Amino acid sequence: MEDILELEKDILDQIDAASEEKALEDVRIAALGKKGAVSALLKGLGSMDPAERKEWGPKLNGLKTRLTDAIEVRKGDLHRASINKRLETEKIDITLPVRAEAEGRIHPITQVFEEILAIFNDMGFVVEEGPDIEDDFHNFAALNFPEGHPARELHDTFFFEADEVGDQKLLRTHTSPVQIRTMMSQKPPLRIIVPGRTFRCDSDQTHTPMFHQVEGLVIDQETHMGHLKWCLEEFAKAFFEVETIKSRFRPHFFPFTEPSAEMDIGYKRVGDEIHIGEGDDWMEILGCGMVHPNVLRNVGLDPDVYQGFAFGLGVDRLAMLKYGIPDLRDFFASDVRWLQHYGFAPLDMPNLATALSW
Ligand code: PHE
Repeated sequence: MEDILELEKDILDQIDAASEEKALEDVRIAALGKKGAVSALLKGLGSMDPAERKEWGPKLNGLKTRLTDAIEVRKGDLHRASINKRLETEKIDITLPVRAEAEGRIHPITQVFEEILAIFNDMGFVVEEGPDIEDDFHNFAALNFPEGHPARELHDTFFFEADEVGDQKLLRTHTSPVQIRTMMSQKPPLRIIVPGRTFRCDSDQTHTPMFHQVEGLVIDQETHMGHLKWCLEEFAKAFFEVETIKSRFRPHFFPFTEPSAEMDIGYKRVGDEIHIGEGDDWMEILGCGMVHPNVLRNVGLDPDVYQGFAFGLGVDRLAMLKYGIPDLRDFFASDVRWLQHYGFAPLDMPNLATALSW
């Protein structure tokens, strides 16, 4: 029994020397397992007389505890070391630089959609979408276009043939039906921004049968024209990336807003260039107004409690203006050379923190 100090030192050395978890487990079994050296000594306590047992009991139990602790510590070290080794050896480099010769480009329309959404998202607007194929209710009736009203004719609608039950679908002529869909499915306060395709039977240098709009809608209990004006002026400044903007709100007519206006911004032509925010010429950039009480009633909102404003932007026109693109039809010509000239690098996503356009 005198050699237990020797035994302890020997086992501690083996623990230190174990270089992996499996070897350490072997050391543990040889010492503390059922047939282990220390276990055998502990078993011997049973056949000792009381005086001897009193002396050896604490010694052997102390030995067992120290060895158990040492094994635990070593086990932790080996485990960490093996994880670090795996992290070191199984590491892969997932960063791949953009290939300089990459030829794909983001279409200017997509770019301008992303820019507009980035600006309104920053103001707290949430993106909503709706179907291209609509019905009369969402595209017209609920938006306060009376049956037979001339405003319907202005839209040059593409109609589908009526089905067996006389239901006639159409291609939406504007993104405003998403106002109706949203007000009928969500509770105010609402602040939505709606990118989408729109269709009218019209084609010349400044019109294509399919074009793009972004709709905005705010519904709350204390919304007024001042909010509308601020919001759209902030938008114009951010979009055209200028410090100041000149704007005017010209009275207009839309069945679904009252009052209605078109927003013009001031610009100046310098040679071939257009400078936004200065000068005495005006151009129209969007339609807007306060949501008509009839529209609120049509979606089950009480106009004495709720009001709001809406606006609709023509994306194609804004893209032509901002990026100096002379002919609308080129947008849809799928000409790779044109896209390489007017397109945007794929990873330069517009955002307000760094830059809207690069
Ligand atoms: N929907 C209108 C259009 O297409 C634009 C608009 C939207 C006007 C919202 C006012 C409010 O011409």
